Amino acid sequence: MPRALPWSALALVAWSRARPSGVVAPEDGSSECEADAPEDAVLARFADCLFTDADCLSHLNASSGADLVRTGDVMAAFEKVGRDGLHAGSIKAPEWVERFASHRCVGAVEVLPFPESATAADSLRTRLRELSATGPQPLLVHVDGINDGLGARFKKAIEVVAAALQMGFFAVALALPPAGSAVHLAEWEHGAVWCHESPAGAPGDPGGQLYPLICWRFELQADLLGQSPRPEGRVLLWGAPGGRAPPGPAGAGGSPLRCFQFKAKGGQLPEGLVWNFVAREGVSKAARQRLFESARAFSAPLRQLAGRREARCGFGGPDDLLHAAVHVRRGDVGDSSMYAVTQQINKGSFARWLCGLPGRGRRLAVHVYTEARGLSREALRQSNLSGFAFPPAAGDADAPRFHATGRLEPPAPCDSVLQEVHFVVNNNPREALLCMARADVLVTSFSSLGWAAAVFNGGTVYHPNPKHYQREPTHWDLREQYLDWADNWFLMADGAGALRCTAFALLLPALLAVGGHVP
Ligand SMILES: *[C@@H]1O[C@H](CO)[C@@H](O)[C@H](O)[C@H]1NC(C)=O
Ligand SMILES: *[C@@H]1O[C@H](CO)[C@@H](O)[C@H](O)[C@H]1NC(C)=O
Repeated sequence: MPRALPWSALALVAWSRARPSGVVAPEDGSSECEADAPEDAVLARFADCLFTDADCLSHLNASSGADLVRTGDVMAAFEKVGRDGLHAGSIKAPEWVERFASHRCVGAVEVLPFPESATAADSLRTRLRELSATGPQPLLVHVDGINDGLGARFKKAIEVVAAALQMGFFAVALALPPAGSAVHLAEWEHGAVWCHESPAGAPGDPGGQLYPLICWRFELQADLLGQSPRPEGRVLLWGAPGGRAPPGPAGAGGSPLRCFQFKAKGGQLPEGLVWNFVAREGVSKAARQRLFESARAFSAPLRQLAGRREARCGFGGPDDLLHAAVHVRRGDVGDSSMYAVTQQINKGSFARWLCGLPGRGRRLAVHVYTEARGLSREALRQSNLSGFAFPPAAGDADAPRFHATGRLEPPAPCDSVLQEVHFVVNNNPREALLCMARADVLVTSFSSLGWAAAVFNGGTVYHPNPKHYQREPTHWDLREQYLDWADNWFLMADGAGALRCTAFALLLPALLAVGGHVP
């Protein structure tokens, strides 16, 4: 049953209006936690349902499957249009830049070489500082075209943003149109579609060798960021206050932005260039804070944004119930990759760690995002997830099933953690990313997909400790890198967890302070 919209939602809107700053005091008294953008939009939580309710679970399942596109249809279209036609429905880099510039920039876009040495970076920094002091703010316009998995592509694009802020750009306008395995055909009712290799279509694959493609309707920019794929629409300016352009010069009516672009072929800067820059120059705390503040304010994951296709997460329920999303990365990296914290620490320790999270007077529900061989609850059971059990129930063989419940095994040794666990398996990436971004606590894996959700999550994020990933850092695999960039990100330790910020629950005292009543 979806929760009826309580009047506290309206009170919260009133509160947001009354208090332009959405910053919430975290439990430990530091000012590291960021709340959501104060927009006059309903909190998604109030329109959500709780996964322990059977109707809720079947609603979530039906909604997930609605975005599935038959792989055969994608293949047939591919045969028809060929490789060149795969992205014909999206706006190509030169056109995006040109349209963006004519809409938002003063003058033409200046093309710059990427600063490859410390000296080049210094002179660019000096020039950008002078520009910032005197005229329209210098903005980098970047259209990403990297051919990589979706999470990796996103993370490398954010690496460009961080480097640009470190160089002294005021902000970055970043477009992430379909590229690589995200396809967008011209004549095609599905819009942008993302395909990835998944074990979902290979039930009972004995050696764990098969990863058939699974395809979903998914447009990263619109579906997660709430950014318009059109350059004239709502575009996040990474690093700018609130993610928006500064006001233009008074009376002049001119654009406040002077635009630059790096010399890049098809949106691809030469391999390793940006990684080398970040390794050499670092990214200052101030630049990182601007990056995260702008993204979280603009994309407001806790809220329902007009223009973003909404998702329920199963995160409803009483207001003292917090929701932890745990990404258990398996899928095409296999079941034994040990990329997930549930595989890295002993299952008894994990259950105890969960007990340390919610704090006094609150409870915690766990939601696991993973992939498994096959699409039934039976298949999920057979995938032997460490720390969880799936007691037999009616309908175990029914497929496809994208949402199911299981239990903590061993049970959490406390009353404050629900033993019943929500499994979101082989799921719609739009819903998975948005829900992971929205959870009060996010526990990521060595995965850029979870990292992408963490960029938007204003609650508490735990990343796996890089000591569990014993490889030399490289520019092409950022899996265990940049895990300390945001102030609300912590490395997962084996000891007791502690919630530093919650995305939602700490808003409640403020609600009560304006005379609200929480049902
Ligand atoms: C889950 O939803 C899909 C459609 O999205 C449907 O085909 C399937 O039967 C549902 N599974 C269960 C177990 O209800
Ligand atoms: C899970 O465990 C069972 C029983 O130990 C074993 O037969 C099965 O092969 C395991 N499955 C996987 C995917 O490891």
